[in-house]
Amino acid sequence: MARLALVFTVLFIGAAIQVSLCADESFITQYEYGQMLYENPRGIGCNHCHGKAGEGANVATYMDDGKKVVLHGPDIRRVTIEELRKSLESRHRVMPTYFLTNNEIRAIYTYLHKERE
Ligand code: HEC
Repeated sequence: MARLALVFTVLFIGAAIQVSLCADESFITQYEYGQMLYENPRGIGCNHCHGKAGEGANVATYMDDGKKVVLHGPDIRRVTIEELRKSLESRHRVMPTYFLTNNEIRAIYTYLHKERE
């Protein structure tokens, strides 16, 4: 039993170290860090509404007064870093507000732009 606890402790410390390595970007590139944040930005992943690489996606389709309405997450591959920051920090009708640092926003920006090259 004690041995099992030790194994879990080692695994936990391992995971903690990995997270801190990610944060200072020494073992993964800015692009990979951006991809990770894009999919897991301390909130709903951007990929759910903007597609795998920011190309845009249909989030949901529903009927309103007999009319079909498509809820669409726009293509965000061409936004500037300033637009990206503004969008993340403001309130929207559909999109949630995020609390990301400048570094994190820059990483997501790198991810969105590299994917196109
Ligand atoms: C629940 C769905 C949803 C999620 C999750 C989401 N968005 Fe959005 N986003 C939208 C929608 C819909 C719009 C259009 C404005 C509106 O109606 O909210 C939008 C607008 C934007 C815009 C402005 C686009 C333009 O052309 O001006 C940017 C940039 C953006 N999102 C980036 C992101 C990033 C980066 C993430 C992840 C951190 C994210 N979004 C997560 C749905 C979402």
